[in-house]
Amino acid sequence: MRMSDSARQGIFARLIDDHRQITAMMEQIEATAYDDAFDRESLFDELKKELLVHAHAEDTVVYRTLELYRSTAHLIRVSREEHALVEHLIDQLSALHDDDERWMARFQVLQDLLEHHIDEEEGDLFDLAADIVDRSQSEDLVDEFEDARRREHARQAGGGERRPQRDDRSLRDYDGREPGH
Ligand SMILES: [Fe+2]
Repeated sequence: MRMSDSARQGIFARLIDDHRQITAMMEQIEATAYDDAFDRESLFDELKKELLVHAHAEDTVVYRTLELYRSTAHLIRVSREEHALVEHLIDQLSALHDDDERWMARFQVLQDLLEHHIDEEEGDLFDLAADIVDRSQSEDLVDEFEDARRREHARQAGGGERRPQRDDRSLRDYDGREPGH
């Protein structure tokens, strides 16, 4: 890891904590391929909630700051594309029965994408961002990030949780079968 010291403090350290938690949750789900003692559905529900809360708070607080700078603007566009793909894959996983043999294959694609996304953020993006965000701004962003997380949790608890979109692409996943068959 070639992360500079300032890229490990404040908001960056806070995001890394979330990333570690998400990685650990994905590893638990991966283990359900070999060990039925885990309840794949409830683990995935937890991951889904955590991922959406994290991604929305990160976008609202961190991406919105970094998109204004020439050095990070392109990486932020890439990161937003990846967040959109993550949400799409979550919808696609939710639309499939978790005992369907395609579920774990699709989950591995999500896991690979997230590992790549997290590496890119913690590497190139945080290094560049550390030159933009000074220590006191970085601490302020932690408070804003926690507020954004709380709002997103409340939004989900209030029934604002995303439902799988029954668009053409998700419908094709059923291969003509009704959901649940
Ligand atoms: Fe991200």
